[in-house]
Amino acid sequence: MRDDLVVLKDVCKRFGSQQVLKGISLVARRGETTVVIGGSGAGKTTLLRHIVALEKPTSGAVFIDGEDIVPMGERELNRIRKKFGMVYQYAALLDSITVLENVAFPLVEHTKLSRKEIDTRVHEKLRILGLDANVAKKFPSELSGGMRKRVGLARALMLEPPILVYDEPTSGLDPLTSRMVDDLIEEMRQRFGVTSVVISHDIASCFRIAHQAILLIRGEIVAQGTPDDLAHGAGEVASEFIRQSGVDVARLGRVAS
Ligand SMILES: Nc1ncnc2c1ncn2[C@@H]1O[C@H](COP(=O)(O)OP(=O)(O)O)[C@@H](O)[C@H]1O
Ligand SMILES: [Mg+2]
Repeated sequence: MRDDLVVLKDVCKRFGSQQVLKGISLVARRGETTVVIGGSGAGKTTLLRHIVALEKPTSGAVFIDGEDIVPMGERELNRIRKKFGMVYQYAALLDSITVLENVAFPLVEHTKLSRKEIDTRVHEKLRILGLDANVAKKFPSELSGGMRKRVGLARALMLEPPILVYDEPTSGLDPLTSRMVDDLIEEMRQRFGVTSVVISHDIASCFRIAHQAILLIRGEIVAQGTPDDLAHGAGEVASEFIRQSGVDVARLGRVAS
């Protein structure tokens, strides 16, 4: 299917004697936001690393935009990796260099653009993300949590990837800033048509942004569907997981349409 941008089929991953992923099958559709929720140690980051071609499964298949990436060598994998923009927990900015240099980094690494052209593009991205021109000269430590997220997003968007992946983007943020990040994820989808895969343990965030929610427990998918399916129709384990979070899902707004 053309709209099945990310497809995993029965993916297993073992580190030594530890079975971390136990037969994961999922589809992330083009233009949609897929959110993988689950507790700490469930294998969420490991799953994400398989999607972005940083890890190979012990068995099973991974298709990105129709291409089977498991048999690929490093050269081809690097081509696949460029389809992804990654937004990490705490934005993962380098504190010793300015915002300008942080955001310019992917262009310096992966393109032969002139310094002038790179600076122009960085300023353009910062502006699109609602950051003032003078932010470029600042160091990450001088910014608020929400601004750092925007800078992290600007950097992830520099190579205009069709897929954005986020590993716990709201982790460590206050509720207000977390909701801002949700809005930003939805905005990226609406403005640039990006497909998003979001790893989260933030149930409120999941309900606000997900078209599809997947619950991962101890390396296994125990439920998948819309967030409302997980709360009500996908079995006792899922509804209990959501109840345990203490989030009153009936009262949450939805930004995904
Ligand atoms: N490179 C690795 N080598 C060995 N064990 C790993 C590696 N990566 C992850 N693990 C183990 O896999 C399990 C799941 O980790 P992770 O995917 O980071 O979980 P989560 O992101 O859901 O918290 C953990 O027990 C972790 O120690
Ligand atoms: Mg993790």
